[in-house]
Amino acid sequence: MKIAFYGTKPYDKIWFEPMGKEYGFDIHFIEASCNQETIFMAKGYDAICIFVNDYVNAEMIDALYEMKVKAILLRSAGYNNVDVKAAEDKIVLLRVPSYSPESVAEFSMALLLTVNRLTHKAYNRTREFNMSLNGLMGADLFEKTAGVIGTGKIGQAMIKILNGFQMRVICHDPFPVEGIEAEYVDLEELFEQSDVISLHCPLNSGTKHIVNRSSIAAMKKGVYLINTSRGGLIDTEALIEGMLEGKFGGVGLDVYEEEEGVFYEDRSGEIIADENLARLMTLPNVLVTSHMGFFTREAMCAIAKTTLENAYALENGLPLVNQVMK
Ligand code: NAI
Repeated sequence: MKIAFYGTKPYDKIWFEPMGKEYGFDIHFIEASCNQETIFMAKGYDAICIFVNDYVNAEMIDALYEMKVKAILLRSAGYNNVDVKAAEDKIVLLRVPSYSPESVAEFSMALLLTVNRLTHKAYNRTREFNMSLNGLMGADLFEKTAGVIGTGKIGQAMIKILNGFQMRVICHDPFPVEGIEAEYVDLEELFEQSDVISLHCPLNSGTKHIVNRSSIAAMKKGVYLINTSRGGLIDTEALIEGMLEGKFGGVGLDVYEEEEGVFYEDRSGEIIADENLARLMTLPNVLVTSHMGFFTREAMCAIAKTTLENAYALENGLPLVNQVMK
């Protein structure tokens, strides 16, 4: 199988190159991300492999179909970046539904601890021998209420971590699961009662801007908000308004509505065109990271393994257990 691998970073090759060879796949690593301008590069390949900030819209699906590309291998769990309906009957979509939920949950807790206890600021200060504690006061998490939205794989891993901090954990999910150490409540209650809110649901038409002006109005003053799921879950303008009104104790964002084309690249020499992102960066209690919740050795290895197993199954007519369907 010939695979065009879009958006390649050096760390992708660590696992994909040797494992791909073991399978006998011919993987062509392309640095450019997959978009309208680069889709022509898929010509002559059996499959393309894409990541979260690549996208494939209906027009691109048609182009792939004409080029006789048989599959889109998503090396991610989320698939909101592909027009799934347009792909129906034309091209097979395969994803990595689970690799290391703990990697994302642990990173969510890292963001929470950082924006609460301000270790990122302390690090900068002490390196300049500024040993003052002014402005670095945080809050105990012990016995506070944490609200988890989405109790799938990552949400459940997060609930275990939050329980380890002896927090009271409440949660919301239209499909509750049994046996978790958290109490299901409706969304309004979750917004009203939580001292910490962590988002772990997928982005779809029902969850877009689940954090908006009215949900922010319902939240406690001083609440901590963590988003490691998808940027579109938060209405960024409403968030900025809430920040300016002093609503939030801290906000940790690993994802951002308009991250495509910005995240995963070194933009340090450029002027930021996105005013909302630039504004967020000026707020002292916001920490933005570049969609890296998944970024552990264990997760990267598992992503490569499942992506290539998906390709192998397709090539050999085996059951496609990780197929995405409308
Ligand atoms: P999952 O599919 O196991 O769980 C998602 C849960 O969200 C399901 O239980 C579902 O019922 C629930 N849900 C759906 N609609 C909801 C709503 N309206 N309100 C509350 N819950 C709702 O997915 P998993 O593996 O836990 O991943 C969650 C999300 O994390 C992914 O969709 C992806 O966007 C994000 N993610 C982020 C990564 C990062 O590096 N920052 C890496 C991997 C995933």
